[in-house]
Amino acid sequence: MANTIKTQVGIIGGGPSGLMLAQLLDLKGIDSVVLERQTRDYVLGRIRAGVLEKGFTDLMREAGVGDRMDREGEIHNGFEISDNGTLHHIDLKGLTGGDSVMVYGQTELTRDLYEAREARGAKLIHETENVQPHDLTTDAPYLTYEKDGETHRVDCDFIIGADGFHGVSRKSIPEDQITEYEKVYPFGWLGILSETKPVHPELIYARSERGFALCSMRSQVLSRYYVQVPLTDTVEDWSDARFWSELKARLPEDVAAKLETGPSIEKSIAPLRSFVCEPMRYGNLFLAGDAAHIVPPTGAKGLNSAASDIYYLYHAMVAFYDEGDASGLESYSETALRRVWKAQRFSWWMTSMLHEFPDHPDFDQRLQDIELAYFLDSEAARTTLAENYVGLPF
Ligand code: APR
Ligand code: PHB
Repeated sequence: MANTIKTQVGIIGGGPSGLMLAQLLDLKGIDSVVLERQTRDYVLGRIRAGVLEKGFTDLMREAGVGDRMDREGEIHNGFEISDNGTLHHIDLKGLTGGDSVMVYGQTELTRDLYEAREARGAKLIHETENVQPHDLTTDAPYLTYEKDGETHRVDCDFIIGADGFHGVSRKSIPEDQITEYEKVYPFGWLGILSETKPVHPELIYARSERGFALCSMRSQVLSRYYVQVPLTDTVEDWSDARFWSELKARLPEDVAAKLETGPSIEKSIAPLRSFVCEPMRYGNLFLAGDAAHIVPPTGAKGLNSAASDIYYLYHAMVAFYDEGDASGLESYSETALRRVWKAQRFSWWMTSMLHEFPDHPDFDQRLQDIELAYFLDSEAARTTLAENYVGLPF
């Protein structure tokens, strides 16, 4: 074996979860190694989420990477729900007694984390192939990986599986030791990014008989829009012209009239899925983020659910290394799952309330109509929506 490195925490995956944990631990003097399969440019080329809860922004600041986010990110004190052509404002700040969300792209915060890790001379290894965790139920777990034709080994105390939904970590847990809960929705989201001014100062979640649509943004010169599409559609079915015309048809007329269109600079289709793996721990392997759970994007909870896992793991590891207190690690899975399932419920509910379900019976359709009407009419109901959207406490 070519090289053996020794560290305290071996982290698989250099997405937001893995990078954030490595950075937070480093600031507390805890050593880690991050193994990432892709190149840095590839990771930064992925267009992902864009709405951050306060818990996430606090964690960015604690990790010493909040400056650009605080300068360039946009505070959003509310959003709109369009119900078949009529806009209804959800006043997040008023309904929650002062909370809001931050619009700042996952790509940008991942870039900030990469820069911070590099500035601190981090052990962040890209283009690692065939990463494998070993001896997970012993006190001396280790990782192996291949790079440049050689096999390497990382000895550690703990392994963190932060390698996303398709990663190797969850798959290395024996099947009879975990339960997977999954719900697949009968549609996907077609998303585009365009260098145009956002159509509205706040996000618009639009329910329409033609299907759901979302108007979001990354900045005042970069818009992100989505439309619900059947799972059988491909990107080739959707010219830019067809996309813009369908989006307009799903928005209130006065909003559609203001929509600035332009060439798409990214276009992709993502299926919608809810998924949770229980428990989030096997021996000394701890799962975090998309490796353990996926939500449909309707509630903007994917990245934020990853952040709560990292928060719990970070505090548990600091307690372990500083005070020899393993209780946070022992209860990690239970604590994390409690919040994960709340975000799952909210994401499933937002998805169910706002999308067109092709095979819903008429009765369910009428219930869906009245459910949204109830939430828009009742301040008590809008308060629970707002409380969940800004993020439940860690
Ligand atoms: N070995 C090494 N790295 C791997 C492997 C592997 N076998 N498999 C996957 N990876 C890397 C991926 O290339 C990716 O960069 O792990 C990283 C996982 O990152 P994400 O998928 O972004 O997952 P996570 O960091 O948990 O981020 C939370 O929230 O908004 C959602 O899905 C969105 O990415 C977001 C997530
Ligand atoms: C996005 O901007 O990509 C976005 C925003 C809110 C969501 C989902 C996606 O609920």
